[in-house]
Amino acid sequence: MSLNRFFRTKHKRKARVKTNIEIIKDRSIPRHVSIIMDGNGRWAEKRGLPRSTGHRQGVEIMRDIIETSGELGIEYLTLYAFSTENWKRPKNEIKAIMSLLVEYLVRELKTLHKNNVKIATIGDISLLPDKAYKEIKKAVKLTKDNTGLQVNVALNYGGRLEMVKAVREISQKVATKELNIEDIDEELISDHLYTCGMPDPDLLIRTGGDVRISNFLLYQIAYTELWFSDATVYWPDFTSEHYLEAISDFQNRQRRYGGVIVEEED
Ligand code: FPP
Repeated sequence: MSLNRFFRTKHKRKARVKTNIEIIKDRSIPRHVSIIMDGNGRWAEKRGLPRSTGHRQGVEIMRDIIETSGELGIEYLTLYAFSTENWKRPKNEIKAIMSLLVEYLVRELKTLHKNNVKIATIGDISLLPDKAYKEIKKAVKLTKDNTGLQVNVALNYGGRLEMVKAVREISQKVATKELNIEDIDEELISDHLYTCGMPDPDLLIRTGGDVRISNFLLYQIAYTELWFSDATVYWPDFTSEHYLEAISDFQNRQRRYGGVIVEEED
């Protein structure tokens, strides 16, 4: 493809995304979107490249999706960046992911802050390598009063471990009589999760073709709408157009929360 044609195509695609954003914004926007960014490794392997190149490309996509989320007026975007199970990966891959996190924050923090983005984390970040821990803490601190899109980065996050943490905290409060057994209800449990104070995700997206939840937000997704890409769309292939497709699909669904929709009679 000639350079001219490349830029024309890119420009056309940007214009198309802009138009679609306007159409989608006229309908109900999910308040909270969560994403399992899967397929970086396979994307790279398919091209004979190291897996870390897939993660690097994945970070660029993450950047686009954060931008589009802000344009759409989404309030919370929760990204599964590193799970409690991901420590089982080869040391050099873990190192590459952590370096990319640091690199991304060093490069983008100013812009994120300027755009009123609030960075938060879910998961036990105390176990991250020093440099990654410091950079993410710095980002959280700098952006804590921002009022725009909140990006929750899931780092050393596992849904089961999150529930164990909640049970322990609640049990401790019962043991010290700060709480009675009767005080324990669904809301109280929600209040002891990392996502305390946030609405549950309206939409969960997973790229890469696998149809599973992989220990992500287990309690919070009770009534979340799920959207899985087909197997040809690895995370580094996921464009804003795919994202808008997922949101548009969400907007066409009827959410009943276990109830029924009663049509009004004339
Ligand atoms: C899943 O693909 C991806 C991950 C486990 C890591 C995602 C991490 C990033 C995009 C970088 C993190 C950086 C920031 C800035 C938060 P996979 O490796 O499981 O792919 P596969 O299923 O093809 O093996």
